[in-house]
Amino acid sequence: MKKDLLTINDLTVKEIQELFSLTDKLKKNKAKFGKTLFGKTLVLIFQKPSNRTRVSFEVGMFQLGGNSLYLAPNEINLGIRESIADVARTLSRYVDGIVIRTFEHKNCLELAKEATVPVINGLSDFSHPCQALADLYTVKEKLKVLKGLTLAYVGDGNNVCNSLLFICAKLGVNMNVGCPKGYEPDAAVLKDAKAAAEASGAGINLFNDAFSAVKAADVIYTDVWASMGQEDEAAKRKEAFRGFQVNKNLVESAKANVLIMHCLPAHRGEEITDDVLNSQNAVIFDEAENRMHVQKAVLIKLLGR
Ligand code: CP
Ligand code: NVA
Repeated sequence: MKKDLLTINDLTVKEIQELFSLTDKLKKNKAKFGKTLFGKTLVLIFQKPSNRTRVSFEVGMFQLGGNSLYLAPNEINLGIRESIADVARTLSRYVDGIVIRTFEHKNCLELAKEATVPVINGLSDFSHPCQALADLYTVKEKLKVLKGLTLAYVGDGNNVCNSLLFICAKLGVNMNVGCPKGYEPDAAVLKDAKAAAEASGAGINLFNDAFSAVKAADVIYTDVWASMGQEDEAAKRKEAFRGFQVNKNLVESAKANVLIMHCLPAHRGEEITDDVLNSQNAVIFDEAENRMHVQKAVLIKLLGR
């Protein structure tokens, strides 16, 4: 049976660990995997702009010996030119896997339901599972362990925050979310994460101030205050997130060697300052690079079956 990756909850703890060890192998010996997906094609249906997701999937697929095909927002016109179900049925006759970047998460669910090939969520308004996999892989690479660490997410309770909650809870990483009132993560996600955290021993905590969230953190993570699709709320959000900027003052109140992470693109001078982004503690471009390595592991697991 085909397997999809729409949220981190599609993966068991064991499957995440297997993805991470395959990623280690892919990073160490790129040449060995050069024909793993020979003859396979991945299609990318994107309704939002992208740098990392598009390029890392396309290059990753190429490095595995396969092909990729990018379909920009106005090509397929998902749900307008034809129904999502018919797009899924048609593409399943041509390709071996689909990556979708969309607004409403239900589009991912609908596509996955009708497609007979694996569907990977390359970001929806609800979740960004490939990002969270690369993030926790990066933390493990840098700090050698995961269980018992504390990740402080400072900013909007958005798609990236949701996926980090799911993965931290599963892998036993404590997660503190520091966000303004009204910008908390989805209540259902918090409930799910807390249930998973009980099994792993992690703690999930919500704060309405950034300083409490970063105290004792091993990692400080942030993301834009206005996500793609929320551009008209940018001014209002700038006001609401005052006090939630990751700057020198905030970082100095955390552990000396705290890792700084950001999924990118960053709005320098808004959610994070230049000096913090450019500092020794920042592992942001390693994190971006690891998107490709982790996704190659995902592609092998899902398309190589
Ligand atoms: N982090 C991330 O998904 O970047 P892009 O929007 O550039 O793909
Ligand atoms: N939260 C951001 C993440 C971008 C990778 C957005 O959805 O725009």
